[in-house]
Amino acid sequence: MSDRAQRRRLARRCVVTAVLAALIAIGVGVMPSGDPRPADTSASEWPGPIRDQTDRMRLGTAVAGAETNTSLQDPAYRTILRTHFDTLTPENQMKWSVIHPEPARYDFTGADELAGFARANGQTLRGHTLLWYGSLPDWAAGLEGRSCQDVRGTLRDHIHTVVARYRGVVTEWDVANEVMNGDGRLRIGGNPFVAACGESIIRDAFMWAREADPDAALYINDFDIEVQGPKLAGLTALVARLRRQGAPIDGVGIQSHLTTASDLSDLPRILADLGDQGLDVAITEADVRMRLAARTPVPGETDKQATVFAELVDACRTAQACRSFTFWGFTDRFSWTGTPAFGQGRATPLNADLTPKPALAAIVRTLRS
Ligand code: XIL
Repeated sequence: MSDRAQRRRLARRCVVTAVLAALIAIGVGVMPSGDPRPADTSASEWPGPIRDQTDRMRLGTAVAGAETNTSLQDPAYRTILRTHFDTLTPENQMKWSVIHPEPARYDFTGADELAGFARANGQTLRGHTLLWYGSLPDWAAGLEGRSCQDVRGTLRDHIHTVVARYRGVVTEWDVANEVMNGDGRLRIGGNPFVAACGESIIRDAFMWAREADPDAALYINDFDIEVQGPKLAGLTALVARLRRQGAPIDGVGIQSHLTTASDLSDLPRILADLGDQGLDVAITEADVRMRLAARTPVPGETDKQATVFAELVDACRTAQACRSFTFWGFTDRFSWTGTPAFGQGRATPLNADLTPKPALAAIVRTLRS
């Protein structure tokens, strides 16, 4: 580690210790909700900011909000957010339905708030996302069935507007999200741009993003590509094809929405192969769902969750090409898996009361190893 990095780490440690000591001294013992405050998060489980446990990659988290920005109003959450992470991802705040609610109207409220928070704390953002079939506003239904010529301009304006606005604070953009089907073919359903133009619109999207911000690293992002199979093969082939046609694709984002039963044995090889193709990689949406009974983890699940998180962190830590590792939320207090579906959930490293699960210690151990 360089002297600079060491000084930075030391300075951060001092700051966090001071902040935590101050919080304890002023008796911040109980959350407004009545939950116990995680006073001992300053102790063994949080041995300083987790971002300072490694220099190998940047550590990040999705920040809940959208819809509403309630998470940023939560003081204990904000403290952890600013202390432990290098990079923040708007969980929903930059999605089309939120940021572009009407054809001629943008609403930057949530995204600006998060960008302001990141700037104030010396953090960066991962922009998410510009071309996706999900979270489209109602008015996008009017784009369905139109010609490519009709819809291209809409996507170009959206990308130029949003990417230019966050230039300088967004350092990685998920330009295209979930454009592959499980069988390795292009995912068309629900995406009026891909439906009208085919894969050439993905190349265009990357070009428009590069025009609007020449410095941001541009990613194609997807799930279920932590394992070998037709989806990963299709995505890899698509990326190679688009890059030959001039698309400025810098990296592949591997979402990593996992469960305690996930098998990550393919992942180190996958990361190495992508790196060999001259691509960066990022773990963009890490969470590990546990099996629950009556909303409580089935015995053994919290330890399995710790093991899967540790394997995932280790795969990124040991891959030359892995640039950033982002949790899709760090606490069950704000997580899309907080409301358990199908008897699974509670997928983040901290409980809803912000106390650590075994996963946190496993993550820290792995980052340090
Ligand atoms: C999810 C959010 O977490 C939810 O709050 C929202 O209701 C739906 O979207 N893959 C992605 C993310 O790329 O944008 C999704 O986020 C989760 C799956």
